[in-house]
Order: sequence, then structure tokens, then C-alpha cells
Amino acid sequence: MEGKEVLPRHVGLIMDGNGRWAKLRHMPRSYGHNAGMNRMIGLAEHAKARGVKYLTAYTLSTENLARPKEEVEGLYNLFRKYFKSNVKKLYKKGSAVKVIGDLSALPEDVAALLREGEENSPADAQFTLIFAINYGTRSEILRAVNLAVENGKKLCAEEFAKFLYTDGIPDPDFIIRTGGEKRLSNFLTFQAAYAELYFCDILFPDFSDAEFDAALDEFARRDRRFGNV
Ligand code: IPE
Ligand code: IPE
Ligand code: MG
Repeated sequence: MEGKEVLPRHVGLIMDGNGRWAKLRHMPRSYGHNAGMNRMIGLAEHAKARGVKYLTAYTLSTENLARPKEEVEGLYNLFRKYFKSNVKKLYKKGSAVKVIGDLSALPEDVAALLREGEENSPADAQFTLIFAINYGTRSEILRAVNLAVENGKKLCAEEFAKFLYTDGIPDPDFIIRTGGEKRLSNFLTFQAAYAELYFCDILFPDFSDAEFDAALDEFARRDRRFGNV
């Protein structure tokens, strides 16, 4: 049908550039992370309104934990603030929250808040905002393989996927990375095997709803062949 909109069902968002955005303003990196978190929440609303069903926000990678303690602590404080104050507003709007990653390495209160955020989510949500926190595909795959070995029998692809953090979530069709780098940095590299990739130079706090729409337009123009002719 002419004019038919082709939308990704699941968008992965690599929110890069917070630190540089703050530096340009002669502010500490934490200022950039705060702005980035606010922008992400705005984008999630917008993505939902556009009809996207899942948005996975790369919030903290396994590698990011090696950053200076002060920065990592600042990010934990941001999660505390966000999950205490904002998550209920999301539920009211018919959205669910999910967290993927290894929460065992996080401060106990932060891990508990994230789990609660997940558990209290409405069951009939129209939209799911997924926070990838202390997430990395390499450790996710290793964990899955070890669980599979403990399981003691050979698995098919569908059974293996159940051991991933993303169990129950459809694979991302579209990965957007802001901040100018052209890499995936350990984000959903297994699940994104056939995702369309979109890179832009804008630093994440400046990535507007209109920029997101431009990315969706580009997605609609892509020819997805999945190895076929
Ligand atoms: C991405 O922004 C957010 C996190 C990794 C937590 P950065 O903090 O990597 O910002 P830049 O790349 O240094 O500008
Ligand atoms: C990727 O950004 C991680 C997140 C956005 C959470 P990084 O800034 O950590 O990635 P690299 O170091 O440039 O690959
Ligand atoms: Mg970065």
C-alpha cells in the first residue's frame, strides 16, 4: 500500500556522547549523564507515541564499570533518582520497565530498585522500556552457555535464547548510535545479527524527537533482505 509506514518493533539506542556534551559546556560529566537520562525518557515517550513497542537504552555497559569511581557512583545515583521518582509515571502511561544485565555487581539498593521497577510493571503494557545496565553481550553469552551446560542437553536456537537476558523480547530491528562512533560496544551483538544500523554524530543529550523521526524515516527506506534475494 502506498504511504504505508514501516516501523521497527524494537529499537536499540546506544546513547553515546553525554561526557563530550557536558565538556562543551564546561560542566562535569555527571551533568551530561543527567541530561542524557532526561532525554532518553522523553525519547521513550515519543517512540511509544510513534508505535515502537520496545526501546532498549544502553545505559551502562560492563566495560563502563571500569570508569572512575566518582562517575560510576554518579550514575548509580541517577538510577536511584530515576527509579524512585519516574517509574510510576511510566506505568500510568501503560508502559512496562525491564532491565537486562548483571545486577549482582551493583550496590544492593540499586539492584533492588531496578528489580522492583521490573516486577511492578503492568502486565498488559503497550510499550516496554528496557534498561541495559551492566550489560554486555559477551558476558550475556557466557552466562547463557554456562546455564545451558548445567541444563545438560543440546539446545536449539529458541531454547538457547531463553538463557539470554533478552528472553521474551523480540530481536532489535534497528540500532541507533549517537555520538559519532561507528561501533556496537558490546551492545546486543547476538540479537542484532540482522538489525539495521544507524549512526549519527549528534551527542546524545541533543538527539531530539525530530532526529529520532529522521532515523525512523531512514529505517523505512532500508531494503531488508535477510540473506534472501
Ligand atoms: C554515554 O556517554 C553514557 C555512558 C557510557 C554511561 P559517554 O559517557 O560515553 O559520553 P562520551 O562518549 O564520553 O562523550
Ligand atoms: C557505549 O558507550 C556504552 C553506553 C552508551 C552505555 P561507550 O562510550 O562506553 O563506548 P566506547 O567506549 O566509545 O566504545
Ligand atoms: Mg562514550
